[in-house]
Amino acid sequence: MCGIYGIVGDKAVEKTLQGIKKLEYRGYDSAGISFFNYEFKLSTDIPKYLKNISCFKNGLNIIREEGDISKLEKIINSLKPKSKLAIGHTRWATHGKPSIANSHPHHSENGDWVVVHNGIIENYIELKQELKGLKFYSETDSEIVAKMLSYNFDGDVLNTIKNVCSRLNGSYALAILYAKNPNKIYVAKSNSPCVVGYSKDIGIVCSDISSIEKIENLYVLPNQTIAEVSAGNINFFDYNLNKIELSKFSGFTIDSSEELGKYSHFMLKEINEIPTAIEKTVVDYNTIEKIRKSLPKKVIKNTKEILIIGCGTAYHAGLMGKRLLEEVCGIKTDVDIASEFRYKNYVPHKNTLAIFVSQSGETADTIKAVKLCKAYGLTTVAITNVKNSSICFEVDYCLYTNAGKEVAVASTKAYNCQVAMFYLMAAYFKAVSIDQDNLIFEEAKQLVDVAKQIKSNKINNICMDIAREIKDSKSLYMIGRTVDYYLSLEASLKLKEISYIHSEAYPAGELKHGTISLIDNDTFVFAFLTQKHLKDKTINNAVEVASRGGKVILFTNQKIENTNFYKIVNLPKLSEFYMPLLLVTYTQLIAYYTSVYLGNNPDKPRSLAKSVTVE
Ligand code: G6P
Repeated sequence: MCGIYGIVGDKAVEKTLQGIKKLEYRGYDSAGISFFNYEFKLSTDIPKYLKNISCFKNGLNIIREEGDISKLEKIINSLKPKSKLAIGHTRWATHGKPSIANSHPHHSENGDWVVVHNGIIENYIELKQELKGLKFYSETDSEIVAKMLSYNFDGDVLNTIKNVCSRLNGSYALAILYAKNPNKIYVAKSNSPCVVGYSKDIGIVCSDISSIEKIENLYVLPNQTIAEVSAGNINFFDYNLNKIELSKFSGFTIDSSEELGKYSHFMLKEINEIPTAIEKTVVDYNTIEKIRKSLPKKVIKNTKEILIIGCGTAYHAGLMGKRLLEEVCGIKTDVDIASEFRYKNYVPHKNTLAIFVSQSGETADTIKAVKLCKAYGLTTVAITNVKNSSICFEVDYCLYTNAGKEVAVASTKAYNCQVAMFYLMAAYFKAVSIDQDNLIFEEAKQLVDVAKQIKSNKINNICMDIAREIKDSKSLYMIGRTVDYYLSLEASLKLKEISYIHSEAYPAGELKHGTISLIDNDTFVFAFLTQKHLKDKTINNAVEVASRGGKVILFTNQKIENTNFYKIVNLPKLSEFYMPLLLVTYTQLIAYYTSVYLGNNPDKPRSLAKSVTVE
């Protein structure tokens, strides 16, 4: 999703370009840079790039390009603009298709104001109508900000920014250039993440705390804050323009796991990192002393019900959490999709613990759901993979998965770690209820053993074979019961995300109530069976499919006599309690290879973003 990077200081254009490249993993469809250089238009061969470049007499210039950042980089490398002030943006289209005109940075009519924006200005149509006589060149909600700044300029830059921001509804992180102040980036933030930093000769703004370069003084902007960023200094203001002090952020960590190494794609690398990621997650919480530091025992004791909320893969991990918390501890657990939960009539129960699962910690709907639950008076816990992400500042308690940076858009190792965290949580609840602290340690040991099993389980060839078989399918179904159904939801999502093959997950017993009519001789159906007590019922459902010509690929740890199935994948020996953690790795690899065989880029699936910061 959209990303912002900006630099005040030497080599601003080069550094900003490097900065937005670090944000690529979030998913985007166009990119652009604005910089100050009074000479630029005179000294370069611009005609070739007429449609990409806007030069203004005041010294501000904008270069934008659709598609991969490498295309923008090519233009920049050929023109080599010099500057000490630049802002850049990666855009993930919300309002208006991906195009040069819709790409950021956006500018006012005379180019005095240039703006990059993350978030959504919800009242932009209404605001547009106030700007009588002005022409709009894009379909975006963001252009309005640049136009409003110019239209409402009262001679005082900060006052104008404050006045404009107070009219905006929705969410935004804005980085703003004003041509007559070529040493400053102005930043305003409300409900979209943004960090700023400075040291002696540099000032930086970035939308993503894990992507900003290491800097002496780093600040996470609270909502309704304006920052005036210069090289060597930042001033902060509230929306009454009172100067405010912010505390320096000290939890800075640089993630070095961004190298592909021997792998052809990040997704493959990340699937291979699953065993280590689980071990690293578990080791941080493998004793009662460690886990209670992050989530005190009294919270567990007080909990009567649990509500789990997330989006996409994180929601699917939440379903696994439900199974574990109900099965191990007998605590009633509901799971909901964040964007659904927000508009439901939720009836809060006293002593409900709300758990939010989010790899990035930035998903807008999940964060809004946290706020809602807090308003209901619930205790809130986040399970996230990104330290100091926005969600950590909202919840009462935070548990970190230690999966390492996940670059591929489709989540893999983070999912396994989220599920591992639920195993630990279930053990924690149990330990507290029967007063046996060592259960945590026992559970952690089991999880490390499962991680070892995943590591030793060589499944590349099986998964490649299956990927080759299914790659030309138009449509595919995945079935299972209870926990196997939860697994099929994640397996199906992974496949459609990156292969673009239509896939649907169904509770095995529900198939015959409609969907079975879609099964014909060419239809592949993955049937998942990992729980002994479900054997007869799930097999019956798989047989029903096979009888209608469906090509059933059964993944199971049970002994199966029926040979009517297209293929049986025998899963290795492992307690059925932990089987979903292992089985999901097959489905992740099958999705990966199918995507590769179809010539897609599994790391950057079309239209998807890693971190969905708009609602
Ligand atoms: C996006 C990603 C998914 C992810 C979901 C939730 O849709 O493409 O892979 O599962 O967001 O993200 P989160 O960071 O909150 O786990």
